Amino acid sequence: MATSPGTEITFDVRPTSHPVPQADRERMLEAPGFGQVFTDHMITIRWTAGRGWHDARLEPYGPLILDPATAVFHYAQEFFEGLKAYRQADGSVATFRPWANATRMNGSARRLVMPELPEEAFVRAIELLVTQDLDWVPFAESHSLYLRPFMIATDRGIGISKPSQSYLFMIIASPASTYFSGGIKPVTVWLSEDYTRAAPGGTGATKCGGNYAGGFIGQLTALENGCDQVVWLDAVERRWVEEMGGMNMFFVYGSGPEARIVTPPLGGTILAGITRDSLLKLGPDLAIPASEGRISVDQWRADCASGELTEAFACGTAAAISPIGQVKGATSGWTIGNGEPGPVTTKLREELLGIQFGRRPDPYSWVHKIC
Ligand code: PLP
Ligand code: COI
Repeated sequence: MATSPGTEITFDVRPTSHPVPQADRERMLEAPGFGQVFTDHMITIRWTAGRGWHDARLEPYGPLILDPATAVFHYAQEFFEGLKAYRQADGSVATFRPWANATRMNGSARRLVMPELPEEAFVRAIELLVTQDLDWVPFAESHSLYLRPFMIATDRGIGISKPSQSYLFMIIASPASTYFSGGIKPVTVWLSEDYTRAAPGGTGATKCGGNYAGGFIGQLTALENGCDQVVWLDAVERRWVEEMGGMNMFFVYGSGPEARIVTPPLGGTILAGITRDSLLKLGPDLAIPASEGRISVDQWRADCASGELTEAFACGTAAAISPIGQVKGATSGWTIGNGEPGPVTTKLREELLGIQFGRRPDPYSWVHKIC
């Protein structure tokens, strides 16, 4: 569903008269965890067929009132995005590749027959919210402000003859520390050999809530087996490694000057992670060749046993780069390398976080200064 071209979206800015008191905010920022604490404001923009985008606002963070028959509750016409605002070395604040999120979001919109939001409006909305809630951007090492744009279908009615004719786009913001509670301690992953996440022709390449709803059973099984995250295999042969519950994956082959990194190819069932894309570019800059390639579970296990595969890591906005130490499945389990964070994972992590936090040069102009 395309938006009316040329539509200029202007925001009505309505700051709260009851912000969280400074002392409470500072206490919340000490150890925010992930996705538990929310800032003072949010963005809302409405879309209706015929009228297009309208009523764009920055307003106080608060609950929504929705009819129980609202389409999103029944048919899950919904998608979301995730990006972060980082406190820079000089105290200013910047986001990382917000235009890439805007483009990916509109890909989700097309697949789910929802309206595309002009990319300028997406980035403007991010800038407005972060500027308004600047005091919520943490100063602590490795902490950041996680931004969660999302869109829901708001038609009232439970027919399914056509997609909803009205939508609500929002952005909320949440200060965050590291995604995995152990910091950069290696994570243990669970191979989901019975449940799958995404089939060819489905919605695996979009960031729609339904992908995650269907994935919780794999994540729960991972937790029940003492693992941190689920690893999804392809839905057809159930042997090719695809990605994790909320992250892409990289494998490191070789070591020292011979080290190279490989990540599963996209192909429609994997989310095109912006962190993944960034590492495919940064690897070669650090003399670590990077490529896309399919890896089966059997090969993963055998290459670890032979010592050819030396490290593996998960990457994503929330997780940044997290080393994978152990793999477990229903019938097998093995350790990657010596189970500790390896030098290639550490080097890439330092480079990526260095760019995001403004400590290292930004060769691709990925850092988008806000204020
Ligand atoms: N794969 C899945 C399923 C995700 O939820 C995420 C997180 O957004 C990623 C990969 C990584 O994407 P990105 O690097 O854009 O955050
Ligand atoms: C992200 O990294 O932005 C994600 O969306 C991952 C997860 C929290 C769903």
